[in-house]
Amino acid sequence: MKSSEIRSKFLNFFKKREHAIIPSASLITPDNKGVTNSTLFNTAGMQPLIPFLLGEEHPQGKRLADVQKCLRTVDFDDIGDNTHATFFEMLGNWSLGDYFKKEAINWSYEFLTDKNEGLGLDPSRLYVTVFEGDDIAPRDEEASGIWKEIFDKNNIVGNRIFYLPADKNWWQAGDNGPCGPDSEMYYDILNKFGGKGLSHEEFVNADDSRIVVEVWNDVFMQYVKENGKIIGNLPKPSVDTGAGLERLTMTLQNVDNIYDTDIFAPVMNKIKDLSKNWNLKSARIVADHIRSSTFLIGDGVTPSNTDRGYILRRLLRKAIVNANHLQLTEFSLKDLVDIYANTYKDSYPNLTEKIEIIKNEIYLEEERFRKTLEKGLKEFEKGTDAFVLFSSYGFPIELTLELAKEKGIKIDIEKFNEEYKKHQELSRTGAEQKFKGGLADANDPMVIKYHTATHLLHQALHIVLGEGVGQKGSNITPERLRFDFSYDSKMTDEQKKKVEEIVNEQIKNSLPVKQILMPRADAEKTGARHFFGEKYGDEISIYYVGDNLEIAFSKEFCGGPHVKNTSELAGPEGKAVFKIQKEEASSQGVRRIKAVLV
Ligand code: ALA
Repeated sequence: MKSSEIRSKFLNFFKKREHAIIPSASLITPDNKGVTNSTLFNTAGMQPLIPFLLGEEHPQGKRLADVQKCLRTVDFDDIGDNTHATFFEMLGNWSLGDYFKKEAINWSYEFLTDKNEGLGLDPSRLYVTVFEGDDIAPRDEEASGIWKEIFDKNNIVGNRIFYLPADKNWWQAGDNGPCGPDSEMYYDILNKFGGKGLSHEEFVNADDSRIVVEVWNDVFMQYVKENGKIIGNLPKPSVDTGAGLERLTMTLQNVDNIYDTDIFAPVMNKIKDLSKNWNLKSARIVADHIRSSTFLIGDGVTPSNTDRGYILRRLLRKAIVNANHLQLTEFSLKDLVDIYANTYKDSYPNLTEKIEIIKNEIYLEEERFRKTLEKGLKEFEKGTDAFVLFSSYGFPIELTLELAKEKGIKIDIEKFNEEYKKHQELSRTGAEQKFKGGLADANDPMVIKYHTATHLLHQALHIVLGEGVGQKGSNITPERLRFDFSYDSKMTDEQKKKVEEIVNEQIKNSLPVKQILMPRADAEKTGARHFFGEKYGDEISIYYVGDNLEIAFSKEFCGGPHVKNTSELAGPEGKAVFKIQKEEASSQGVRRIKAVLV
């Protein structure tokens, strides 16, 4: 079965079950509207739907289905193995307070195994996991009961339901928000076990060694978490599902890796043709990274040294280094775009529409990087420091780290970070001078101001109400900010006044607002506030307000954009004063503030 057929079968299946089909959102997460988001890209199908899982009404109703473009950089190091990809498509069906476990599980099973409407997978090769329970939430006997009934009814024998702990069978979008146990479906892709049941240990080993491959995850959104702790039940239990198209395709096409599917095979073949020094891992990296780059540029990202542009640059530069290992012809990477545009011509026609732009960006980046690549590699061999490789030769630090790992060389990352910070300050001053007199900005300037004001408010609330305050949501329009946070009682007038005073003090102090990118582990150590942390991204963008990260008034994981200095926070009257307009209950235990800049 072709990948395009899997996509359309999935959507038709759920359409028939009264789901509205919605288009994929952009790979780029919304910066300012809806719930505050710390990731640069959508990393799961549920991400663009978080506000609706939290209770906002979706215009298309309570049952939705989609194929969402996703990008995960957390798996960067795994690229080249059989199943990981930076870009992937996630098939999802959604119940926003409508159906729950029974329907979700039964439909998953039906879609996977039905020969007509579904994929016709062999049910005897299917294995499932459910949440084993802990001191936070009980063992999911309901889900396992539903599975047992299904297996019994279909005469599928042997042990195939496995209870696993929260690190496997619990899904949440960071520390706050909707979460719940999940049930994952695995398929014995090469029929190694011949349809028999497995012991717990056999299953865990088979998962580890990817003999059974996860093909679908049903999440039963049931609880609300705050600062990592469950504070209550979701008012309306919901369902968030995710099935990776690439893995399903590999399963349906009877191959043991995603690169042999019809999604990648044409590009892999082309690389093989062009390569004078074939090696599978490099070829896979090139195929993966150029596909991700194609989609990123298609969604408007261009290579740069910050944020999303930096991720794109990293992907492209690593592809170029690997193209060199393969001895591909220089500037041939852009030709792979033609193949992808063709592969995706029906599902993502924007790639065809923008093909010249995409190819040109890849060409330009290759041209920029090739100018210094060879010299940089020589310097690297000589042991030149990582910052020089970055600033003079355009080597993303991650690339240097990977090259170093291959050669067993140690890199002083702390020193790099220090020098990088200094460099950022200098280039910022330069940029400010250059753009004085009006920097054209595609974003609404008021929205950007309110975004920065939201960070100030968040910190002020922590100071006045205590560390228990947790962000529950944020919504920004050019007219006002709205901020939801957990707190048990109505704020007193005095507390509101104090919060206003603290925010206004920061505005008066003209504090710089700065961004720094760092690996997740380092980012977590900074104490910066974060919301959708745990399962997302290894490359974290932190915005902080103050002269340096250590003593910053506010620091948050955040994709931006922000003003450059708090003194810019003037409202329509030009006064640069922050005012709380309203403080009210939003739901139980959650307060809502509406505030303006005047
Ligand atoms: N949100 C779930 C996942 O990404 C479905 O696995």
